[in-house]
Amino acid sequence: MDNSNTPILVAVAWPYASGSRHLGHLAGAYLPADVFARYQRLRGNRVLMVSGSDVHGTPITVRADAEGVTPNEIADKYHAEFVEEWEKLDISWDCYTSTGTENHKEVVQDLFMNLLNKGHIDKRESEQYFDQEASRFLPDRYIEGTCPYCEYSEARGDQCENCGRTLDPQELVNPRSKISGSVPELRSTEHFYLRLSDFQDSLESWLSTREGWRKHVLNFSKGWIEEGLQDRAITRDLDWGIEIPVDDLGEGKRIYVWFEAVIGYLSAAKEWAVLQKDPEAWREWWENQEARSFYFIGKDNIPFHTIIWPGMLIGAGGLNLPTDVPANQYVTFKGGKASASRGVGLTIGEGLDLFEPDALRYALAANLPEQSDTDISIGEIERRINEELVATWGNLVNRVLSMINKNCEGQAPEPGNRNDQDNKVLSEVDAILIKTAQHLEKVEIRSALRAAMDGAGIVNAYLNATEPWKVIKEDLERAQTILSTALEAINGIRVAFAPYLPFSTKILEEILGPVVSWERNHVLPGTSIPKPTPLFAKIETPSE
Ligand code: MF3
Ligand code: ZN
Repeated sequence: MDNSNTPILVAVAWPYASGSRHLGHLAGAYLPADVFARYQRLRGNRVLMVSGSDVHGTPITVRADAEGVTPNEIADKYHAEFVEEWEKLDISWDCYTSTGTENHKEVVQDLFMNLLNKGHIDKRESEQYFDQEASRFLPDRYIEGTCPYCEYSEARGDQCENCGRTLDPQELVNPRSKISGSVPELRSTEHFYLRLSDFQDSLESWLSTREGWRKHVLNFSKGWIEEGLQDRAITRDLDWGIEIPVDDLGEGKRIYVWFEAVIGYLSAAKEWAVLQKDPEAWREWWENQEARSFYFIGKDNIPFHTIIWPGMLIGAGGLNLPTDVPANQYVTFKGGKASASRGVGLTIGEGLDLFEPDALRYALAANLPEQSDTDISIGEIERRINEELVATWGNLVNRVLSMINKNCEGQAPEPGNRNDQDNKVLSEVDAILIKTAQHLEKVEIRSALRAAMDGAGIVNAYLNATEPWKVIKEDLERAQTILSTALEAINGIRVAFAPYLPFSTKILEEILGPVVSWERNHVLPGTSIPKPTPLFAKIETPSE
């Protein structure tokens, strides 16, 4: 961990602006990305954290059709909702934008022309489902049918939500049109294709050099490569999307959302650079060999980030490939996969109505689906808040600050002569900071939080063993040493919590000074310690 000042790209999946996002999305991508970005900044690295609303694609047109409004209205509405939620959660974006910008369009068209000129994109005739009743070609998501792999009867033309496989509409058994319900027919149409097979060997050798990736991500990706990479259509018969920069195909076709949304990571970096009034600054994260990039996504997005996007980057040339793609598994709400489109689980907005932002962040981070699917319920969130966040950390801080305020004239006391017991708790706190850092370096966000909470437990045990509230009556000097040690210990532990709990971190910063690096700093004796207010509210009437 001697790296500092390293450019670190924190690239976060672009949420479809097609409906409210749920807590599963928050836990799957945005929260872990934010924790990781905040940690890296405290380590002195140069973080660029980007994402934006994905405003194209059929999730949005399907919704617009259903509500009788334009796709633009849907996209604007949910983009505004997301931005408001990121603010309420204090997600620390350097640039949160959308795929609807002029900049994004230019970057996408540029990359398209680059790949076209190098021969990695070509034009092909193909058979595509056509709905005769609606007299239009059907985009993948407008077709439903039975998954050929798991026999799930409501698989979409692009993907089966049950087994997670990406699909071609032609693979569906018993296809039907979502527009008219009729059985679609195959008609021939012309499209541009990304020659993914060009990158078979380079992707294979690149993947074989990846170290420290999550097993499920690496295995899934290697499996895809072993099956042999298929060239993929990157245009669609649609009028909602980015225009193809060459005229060859005629009217009514657009660039496929999955080809252009991933380019958002690059276009957002360029947008950020322009906003910094340093238009070339993006190169530090994309061209500097020292830079590292981490992509925070849900597992249904894995192949787009471990194969297709890296393939596009190899084809374009000169741009950094992902360092790691720490994809999360799913958060389930009592068994069923949380899904905004199916209305299962709480939306982020509903979560924020029920819980304080730090408390919600804590409970989700403690349940992150890093290695396997995790189950979340309101009762589980409440339990995490009351039994851990409030009972172990909030009460500890409150206890120590109150005792100091009351017994030490409202000032941090002198440390006096620390004994072995005092020095031991401080070295244990320092060890916790090392341990949390080791986890966070490996993007083990959940384990790092566990370690931080264990640290709070160690300080609680120290207080229970030293009992300053009793000692105070007979030996004020010793009591002050204990309280100064406890304060110093809290000052260390708060660093480990800082990436997770930005709001309570700010409250503590007003008293103890800013958290600026990943280490325990000394609290100067004499620092004013006012009567504290609790950092977190206990949930008084848990619902379950
Ligand atoms: N909009 C997609 C989804 O919600 C994710 C896109 S990630 C991107 O599943 F990188 F392609 F933008
Ligand atoms: Zn399936």
